[in-house]
Amino acid sequence: MTALSIAIDGPAASGKSSLAKALARKIGLVHLETGALYRCVALAFLKSGGPTTPPENVRSLLSGLNLSLGTAPGDPGDIRFFMEKRDVTDEIRSETVGKTASAVAAIPEVREFLLPLQRSFARQGRVVMDGRDIGTVILPDATLKIFLSAPAKTRAKRRWLQLGGERSPISCEEILLDLENRDRQDLSRSIAPLVKAPDALDLDNSRMTIGESVDWIVEKLPR
Ligand code: CDP
Ligand code: CDP
Repeated sequence: MTALSIAIDGPAASGKSSLAKALARKIGLVHLETGALYRCVALAFLKSGGPTTPPENVRSLLSGLNLSLGTAPGDPGDIRFFMEKRDVTDEIRSETVGKTASAVAAIPEVREFLLPLQRSFARQGRVVMDGRDIGTVILPDATLKIFLSAPAKTRAKRRWLQLGGERSPISCEEILLDLENRDRQDLSRSIAPLVKAPDALDLDNSRMTIGESVDWIVEKLPR
């Protein structure tokens, strides 16, 4: 099969991972949601006292981290994230972990630590990866790069629904504030900030379903 790599970047809750997952299933790619890797590291930080772990402790925290990928039983398209062999895929979804992920993602040692895993995943040849620096750092030569966006209010509503709507532990207003803070932090950090790669295509999916976004991307692929 011919090699094909697709990079999807964009702000929080813009729909990156659901789009990438659906696209992977449709055209036969393997998908890595790189944000989940940062969330796993964030979980480890939280368990060891929070995002303000002193710099001298960051390296030892990372060196003791056993982070690996697997798949759900019977569904090779469902990538699961393991820490110390424990499936943490659901546990990393909270906004607390998301916020902490954004803080730890600005630490150079954390980005360095996650680089080899992402690079080796990319070498599989037919991949779609989503995150913040995929088009700029991880897959600079991607076949196709997408910069996904939607207004912050739309994204907050989506995240609120994803966290259970009326059953969500956090209100839509709080989510909106968190997303806006996180975007600011991700856009302004000095290392691998959230920026659109010059050769990326803009996709505003605020009025599109995930299926329509998948079709939009498939149309842009080289034939
Ligand atoms: O799901 P959501 O868009 O809210 O966030 P995520 O993709 O799970 O990423 C959580 C945090 O990890 C982001 O706020 C970024 O700071 C960081 N991240 C990053 O720096 N680089 C990536 N390639 C992916 C995520
Ligand atoms: O990965 P990221 O944080 O960018 O977003 P996501 O987790 O893929 O999507 C956040 C929520 O928005 C999910 O519940 C998606 O089903 C939903 N979504 C939507 O309703 N319409 C879209 N066009 C894209 C995503």
